[in-house]
Amino acid sequence: MIFKNLLIEQKGSLQYIIINRESKLNALNNETIHELLFALESAFGNPEVRGLIITGAGKKAFVAGADIAEFNGINADEAAAIAKIGHKVFDKIENGSKPVIAAINGFALGGGLELALACHIRIATQAARLGLPEVSLGLIPGYGGTQRLTKLVGKGKALEIILTADLITAEDAFQFGLVNKVVAPDDLLMYAEELLNKILTRSPKAIEFAINAINAAENQVDGFQNEIKLFASCFATNDAKEGITAFLEKRKPDFKGN
Ligand code: COA
Repeated sequence: MIFKNLLIEQKGSLQYIIINRESKLNALNNETIHELLFALESAFGNPEVRGLIITGAGKKAFVAGADIAEFNGINADEAAAIAKIGHKVFDKIENGSKPVIAAINGFALGGGLELALACHIRIATQAARLGLPEVSLGLIPGYGGTQRLTKLVGKGKALEIILTADLITAEDAFQFGLVNKVVAPDDLLMYAEELLNKILTRSPKAIEFAINAINAAENQVDGFQNEIKLFASCFATNDAKEGITAFLEKRKPDFKGN
């Protein structure tokens, strides 16, 4: 498959998947999500790939979210389909047989933070900004964020992050365990590679089983299904229409609460 929105780079037994839509801050449109699914299936099925680093092209963004332009005018059924394919991709990362590190090189917002949350380890640069700003669009996170963030940082902090829609500095994210390490921008990939290469010196089968065992500590199914339903329901509201339109028109939304 020739990718339009991803760059794949092999370095020894580690592989980079680089989200490459720099002009849209690497926002995940439908095509990119499908390419990501294909790239992950290829990487997990390729014995020459033993671990993955996911990052964003350019200096500004890891991934600034799902592509809001594609939310414009869609109905609840279409939104459910979008959420389901996103869940499929991110579940594949979280439950995959190989370690995946998110190298967060800038904005990791909405679906971008949800992508990072699905990875096994998150490394961020000092300049990175993280957040789940969906409620400012009249939406809720729809790619697993309500579940994975809550499990990672606890209910209180997850509520604060999701309800305020605030952007969080990398240092703050480190303080409450949202990222594993903060490094200088120029050191990001070197650090991520060192960490992944250390993991790759351990037993691949034990790594696979450890990921599986740790994931089994959480029973995710009901929460995720519930999230898909609620995400889809947002698209039946006027607030979502207003939030999406306002973003595209580069103005502040005027929410009516219906
Ligand atoms: N979906 C679609 N397009 C997006 C996007 C997204 N999630 N995030 C950024 N873009 C686009 C912008 O529309 C703009 O495109 P244009 O040049 O064709 O107008 C381009 O990327 C650059 O973004 P811009 O907003 O001009 O950069 P900025 O430095 O002023 O602001 C952000 C950066 C990240 C604060 C801002 O882009 C933003 O708030 N993005 C949306 C974040 C979000 O809500 N994500 C959750 C989605 S569910």
